[in-house]
Amino acid sequence: MPKSLISIQDFSKEEILHILEVAKEFEANREQNFLAGKVIACLFFEPSTRTRLSFEAAVNRLGARVIGFPDSRNTSVSKGETLEDTIKIVSNYADLIVMRHPVSGAGQIAADVASVPVINAGDGANQHPTQTLLDMYSILKTQGTLDNLMINMVGDLKYGRTVHSLIEAMYQFNSKFIFTSPEELKMPKKYLEFLDAKGINYEENERIEDHLNECDILYMTRVQQERFSDMDEYNRVKDFYKLEASMLGNVKPSFKIMHPLPRVGEISTDVDDTPYAYYFQQAGNGMYVRMAIISYLLGYR
Ligand code: CP
Repeated sequence: MPKSLISIQDFSKEEILHILEVAKEFEANREQNFLAGKVIACLFFEPSTRTRLSFEAAVNRLGARVIGFPDSRNTSVSKGETLEDTIKIVSNYADLIVMRHPVSGAGQIAADVASVPVINAGDGANQHPTQTLLDMYSILKTQGTLDNLMINMVGDLKYGRTVHSLIEAMYQFNSKFIFTSPEELKMPKKYLEFLDAKGINYEENERIEDHLNECDILYMTRVQQERFSDMDEYNRVKDFYKLEASMLGNVKPSFKIMHPLPRVGEISTDVDDTPYAYYFQQAGNGMYVRMAIISYLLGYR
């Protein structure tokens, strides 16, 4: 079975650091054409702007070509074809498959039947490992290190796949985690138990103001309407946090605000003009990191 990236734990610490190093090379010179002749399938069963377009841009910068779909409604999925059959078919056409899917665990189902590497571009509330790698690249660029940082994760920690993946990678760098959320959206127990087993410090909290002045990274997240079955519950928590520029008076000089985006109100636009806003650059970093991941899984770097 070819090596895939479904969970961030599929990559060792050494592999993660290798990807970050190669991404740096690609950022210095983004016109690479060594994948000419390769075909990459980008299959998006769930909406995306950054992940899909940065993957497609990455494929083009590497000289390969893209096939795929941004919306599965025009595919044979609408006739009842299973995910397994779809992936077996696409394996015949492409050298690597990038897939986003709304169901947790769909990435592993795809990797189990594919004859080519599969990259999980987000599966339900489970994992978003390529987001984690670009988040780590962004942290390294802004902090100069990955080690011993205080990371405050805010918002939807229950359904937020980006924070789940980030914990499973950053624990290896002795992070101190603050989990800031309303009661309804707390970090699932399985991730807290994971950190307990690794001996990593964390604190759960409800107020965004409490650790702002100590933390290195404030990792904001959106409350994701699409993950709620109860709209009353969504309406109760959707406006729980709103970060404003006026709250940033005493933060560390190196402090950065990250967000996987899209945002829907949890970061006021007046924050965009502060030196602490890094979410747009963070999304830009995604293309270089995804170039590095594709190159690595195809055995080129
Ligand atoms: N960060 C992220 O996954 O964004 P998209 O949903 O736009 O791909």
